[in-house]
Amino acid sequence: MRELSRRQALRLGGAFGLLTGTAALSTAAALSRRPAVTGAELRSAVPLPPPFRVPLPLPRVLPPVAPGRYEITQRVAEVEILPGIRTPMWTYDGTFPGPTIESRRGRPITVTHRNELAVPTVVHLHGGRTPADSDGYPTDLVLPAGWTAEHHAMPDPRAVRTHLTRSYTFPLDQRPALLWYHDHRMDFTAPALWRGLAGLHIVRDDAEEALGLPSGARELPLLIADRAFAADGSLDYPSLDGTLRERPGVRESFLGGVLGDVLLVNGAPWPVQEVDAARYRLRILNASNARHYELEAVTDDGRQLPLVQIGADQGLLAAPVTQATLPIGPAERYDVVVDFADVPVGGRVRLLNRLGSGRTAEVMAFRVARRARDDSRVPAVLSTDLPAWDRPVRVRDFSFRAGQLDHGRGWVIDGRPFDPARTDVTVALGDVEVWRLVADVHHPVHLHLAGFRVLSRGGRPPLPHDAGLKDTVSLRPGEAAEIITRFDGYRGRYLFHCHNAEHEDRGMMANLEIT
Ligand code: C2O
Ligand code: CU
Ligand code: CU
Repeated sequence: MRELSRRQALRLGGAFGLLTGTAALSTAAALSRRPAVTGAELRSAVPLPPPFRVPLPLPRVLPPVAPGRYEITQRVAEVEILPGIRTPMWTYDGTFPGPTIESRRGRPITVTHRNELAVPTVVHLHGGRTPADSDGYPTDLVLPAGWTAEHHAMPDPRAVRTHLTRSYTFPLDQRPALLWYHDHRMDFTAPALWRGLAGLHIVRDDAEEALGLPSGARELPLLIADRAFAADGSLDYPSLDGTLRERPGVRESFLGGVLGDVLLVNGAPWPVQEVDAARYRLRILNASNARHYELEAVTDDGRQLPLVQIGADQGLLAAPVTQATLPIGPAERYDVVVDFADVPVGGRVRLLNRLGSGRTAEVMAFRVARRARDDSRVPAVLSTDLPAWDRPVRVRDFSFRAGQLDHGRGWVIDGRPFDPARTDVTVALGDVEVWRLVADVHHPVHLHLAGFRVLSRGGRPPLPHDAGLKDTVSLRPGEAAEIITRFDGYRGRYLFHCHNAEHEDRGMMANLEIT
């Protein structure tokens, strides 16, 4: 295993931000200390609001235009993120996050996106089991009005481009889960996400609803993301080309990832949510470009409330797992039940981030407003349909590391930067495989289409939060992990990549052909 040399690490400059010395990259001893941060933080140039004043917004649930048919317009909108400040964002239907789509397992839907932005876009349903032609391949672009040929010369003969609109069809033949949709344009995913192109999609089914978990007003989606603001209220981001038209990339010191100093939940800074003294189901997504969090719920008298994990990226666990804290990397999701019953009325529970410092150590708060009756439960058995794969037909190894691109430093998988015209891995439909993934710094590795289970980390059994079916596994510096999956569902061209969005844009993505 080749480590990053100290010089390389230094050349990445601020890329490793708070990283203290390259020893932290690989030694097991370092892993037991506070994990390093991969990325560099932007400082906002506006005064930041005090925490826990802005009420938690809930994204609007998108009504269908006809049964199973939805329409979303991608457009610039001025949004109030910080109180009293207007921030222009790139939005799905004018809000950040975009509207939430609620769907039922096995009932296909079609979502027609209209691109009224000034650049090409493409939408991916993250965690969806989607046929390749609707999976949002990074070169399957929807071109905006007035986009001329010279702007979209990309070396991909298989790309399917459309003008102004595109309809994506999702069979949703999959376990109920919190999915999310976001932009996936080649080389420009990170700035597009940062500007606001992200929304939630919740798949439900009767079996899950019959469990009696907290629901209705006691089920809260929490999309967590960090941002930074310029003096004029716009989002700050270190793009080399702020128009995002031709030249991709970020300033050298941000190659490791872009972090903001403002933590948003559902688009509000450090919000507060009034709750009953009862159980709540929190459906948490880390939609940040590069920031990792380690979440804990703490009462004002310093007591940690247990986080009862009931689900992972790809839906319910077999049985609940009680966690004290939950680490969450970019694109990961947790389904968690928190019980506020023992918190006195008027008391507060803060959701904290143990990986943050100063303002980034706090995420949001819950204020217990009243005692209330609670008929919800967390059954000891949550699901019985988790796949029990064994006997892989193949084991493959992939390294995720810093590396050289044609035009400078970047990130590579097995030494190679992303090329849409190259097939990196060919798998046969229905095959079970084990993939061994190894990282230099933090890399949250995501597979399209295929949910997987984590078999091991660092040669040891997986960690408690690795439970269940995942689609993103957060590798820590120097760590190797083994995952097992079965490639079934659909044939065609899919992707796997690092979900640190700056890494993804700078080479760390590969093609997976299912035949
Ligand atoms: Cu959430 Cu290929 O991405
Ligand atoms: Cu995905
Ligand atoms: Cu990465």
